[in-house]
Amino acid sequence: MQAILETIDLKMTYRVGKVDVHALRGITLTVNRGEYIAIMGPSGCGKSTLLHVAGGMLTPTSGRLIIDGEDVTAMTDAQRTEMRRRKIGFVFQRFNLFPTLTAEGNLKLAERIYSKHRNGAESEARRRILKLLKLEEKMHHKPLELSGGEQQRVAIARAVVNQPALILADEPTGNLDSENSKVVLDMLRGLNEELGQTIVMITHNPEAAGRADRVVEMRDGLIVSNDALVRG
Ligand SMILES: Nc1ncnc2c1ncn2[C@@H]1O[C@H](COP(=O)(O)OP(=O)(O)O)[C@@H](O)[C@H]1O
Ligand SMILES: [Mg+2]
Repeated sequence: MQAILETIDLKMTYRVGKVDVHALRGITLTVNRGEYIAIMGPSGCGKSTLLHVAGGMLTPTSGRLIIDGEDVTAMTDAQRTEMRRRKIGFVFQRFNLFPTLTAEGNLKLAERIYSKHRNGAESEARRRILKLLKLEEKMHHKPLELSGGEQQRVAIARAVVNQPALILADEPTGNLDSENSKVVLDMLRGLNEELGQTIVMITHNPEAAGRADRVVEMRDGLIVSNDALVRG
């Protein structure tokens, strides 16, 4: 299997005043193409830090990060930004859509910023994704005219529209009620199964984790278990 994400002994220490906070204390993790991984663990154990380092948004204190065969730790800032644009899609707990743009406007903006090829290819990808996410009818709504679940589906569409190698999602159902959570989780599972999209998702929700192929458990900056789920 081909690794999309490899971290080797990643460490991240934040300096707060005169105090060192050891958020990651040696994370070695491999995610293969097409996998759907859930990361769980108590608040403060380093999950978001790991996701930000994995996405090239944060530079680790030490260790190595390889994305789709490229050594990110050896890159300049500009190369790392470019890698992030080409290869990574982020989904956040608080959707982070542009409030003045419609759903379609948010997607088009993402395409304009991130896309390598600016011809018809991306609108074809957009149509497929909107269909899968059942968003075609909501394209002309602005975020405030959408439910939380719909906003998160737009945010997911935005993250996948440029067909990134890897989707990183930080508690994507953290602000949703159980019904909307289920819809969003179904969508993520669909993207994984139907488009082969690789996904790494942080969650506190055991049901959400139960939809993944593998659950990585963290405690205090370390991975304490890393098990494939057995499906009945
Ligand atoms: N920007 C930051 N500056 C200083 N400390 C931080 C920063 N971000 C996170 N931390 C600390 O690092 C640890 C891990 O945080 P985080 O990765 O957000 O954990 P989680 O997502 O699992 O709740 C916590 O102790 C947190 O307070
Ligand atoms: Mg977090």
